[in-house]
Amino acid sequence: MATIFFCTECGFETGKWSGKCPACGAWGTLKESTRVTGKNNKPVETLPLSKPERIIDLEYDEFSRLLTGIKEFDLVLGGGIVKGMLILIGGEPGIGKSTLMLQLSEWMGKQNKKTLYCSGEESAEQIRLRSKHLKVTSENIYLLCTNNAEHIIEAIEDNKPDLAIVDSIQSVSIPSLDALPGTVTQLRETTSRLLRTVKNLGIPLFLVGHVTKEGLVAGPKIIEHMVDTVLYFEGEQRSQYKILRAVKNRFGSTNEIGLFEMTHLGLIEVSNPNNIFLSHEQNNIGTAISCIMEGSRSFIVEVQTLVNASNYGTPQRVAVGLDQKKLAMLLAILEKNLSLYLRNCDVFVNLTGGIRSTDPSLDLAILAALISSMKDQPLIEKAVFIGEVGLNGEVRPVSQLDKHISQTLKLGYEKIFISSYAKVKANPKVVKVKDIKALYSALR
Ligand code: TYD
Ligand code: MG
Repeated sequence: MATIFFCTECGFETGKWSGKCPACGAWGTLKESTRVTGKNNKPVETLPLSKPERIIDLEYDEFSRLLTGIKEFDLVLGGGIVKGMLILIGGEPGIGKSTLMLQLSEWMGKQNKKTLYCSGEESAEQIRLRSKHLKVTSENIYLLCTNNAEHIIEAIEDNKPDLAIVDSIQSVSIPSLDALPGTVTQLRETTSRLLRTVKNLGIPLFLVGHVTKEGLVAGPKIIEHMVDTVLYFEGEQRSQYKILRAVKNRFGSTNEIGLFEMTHLGLIEVSNPNNIFLSHEQNNIGTAISCIMEGSRSFIVEVQTLVNASNYGTPQRVAVGLDQKKLAMLLAILEKNLSLYLRNCDVFVNLTGGIRSTDPSLDLAILAALISSMKDQPLIEKAVFIGEVGLNGEVRPVSQLDKHISQTLKLGYEKIFISSYAKVKANPKVVKVKDIKALYSALR
């Protein structure tokens, strides 16, 4: 068996250890692993030889999609599950991955599709209890509780389900392999053997993976490279709203997000996401409403800020749900253009409801909220702020502005602040601002 080293950050493979990964530059991420080889150091299995062919001569089939029947789920998958698709679903412990997988089995079962649910984490009794709690009644769900990936492979081959689930990839391993469970070698080999099995049979497979705050536990990128689709299930621990987000998808776009609410009956899809990310309190000091785009949908969100005199040496800058650098940039714009100095203040910014966004449309709302908090005055009632702010303080139009405007109007907002450079239909409720100086005067 040959010794190789893997970077747990980027998946880079090398024969020689070093402190710094030559590919991604991360320190201390190269972990020892063994390459599994057969006789004479040949790879265990080689694929049959194939010849290059002209792409236009190839036969093709439109992917036939298996719909889960849950719109939010299908949306994130790019329109449903494709045969033989390998999907990694990552998320922090307790976010609801196992719940989602069990419900997925139920949704599939209702369409007479057979699911094989393999769990290496929970006992059959625990899962039975959860299924009772979730009112799972389908006769098409089969459960296999084991830590042995070879048993799982056998069960998939014998039962040929329409869908297979492994919960979680970190908890199953191949005992015959000369490596400890949870190591990079095990993860890689287990994933690749499962992959070969399901690709051969054309069975879609969901792999549940645990994530720490920094990323997937042990060998994250290695599994991400191998699978077709990577979904992340996220949301604040305490918020009942959970977001399913595709970060990689060979069978669809990665723009869409799926929204779920965790209730006592499990996860319920949220198809009309408006208002759920608001705190529902009017006229709060330091809060501003904005509209962002996530995939094909626009959402109303709320930015909360708190500017407070700092008691310690270096003032704090905390952004939750938003990019920290973005906050630093917006604070610099405030200082330069409006001479509003926050050097001796702590600044906290939060996107309400546990949602995360990098949409530049939020810039204007963040600035308006900061101004409100600094002046200790609420903003104009029923106002929405949608615009990107440039380094010189100019307010720029954002894409899909017409969609945002019609949506906010429909929801009863009465003043919509946008860029004066935007080309939108004239409307008395639209307030155009050229730069943040204009915004500041408009807010007075
Ligand atoms: P779980 O699916 O076990 O999370 P994961 O597999 O990602 O670790 O459950 C997550 C949480 O969801 C758990 O704290 C309890 C809660 N929950 C509900 O609120 N309602 C329910 O119907 C169920 C089954 C769980
Ligand atoms: Mg679980």
